[in-house]
Amino acid sequence: DPQKDADRLVQENGEAGQPAWLILQASCTHLGCVPTFVEGSQFGGWFCPCHGSDYDTSGRIRRGPAPKNLAPAPYLFTGPTAIRIG
Ligand code: FES
Repeated sequence: DPQKDADRLVQENGEAGQPAWLILQASCTHLGCVPTFVEGSQFGGWFCPCHGSDYDTSGRIRRGPAPKNLAPAPYLFTGPTAIRIG
């Protein structure tokens, strides 16, 4: 799913987030297991060992049975160093 990073950083109020932070829901889009960050993986990001779904650093699905990218979590920056998630 070739979604752009900028489209994945949108806050719950519709404003752009901060590019240094990507807030994702850690729920595999296959069957809901928790992908883990794997240093040195083929796509440099998140891997779900249950059935082998491989996500890149932006949480976009690159290989495996997962049908969709990891979903961004609803969040809002409430100050320069504060964020509310959920
Ligand atoms: Fe993640 Fe199946 S639950 S690959």
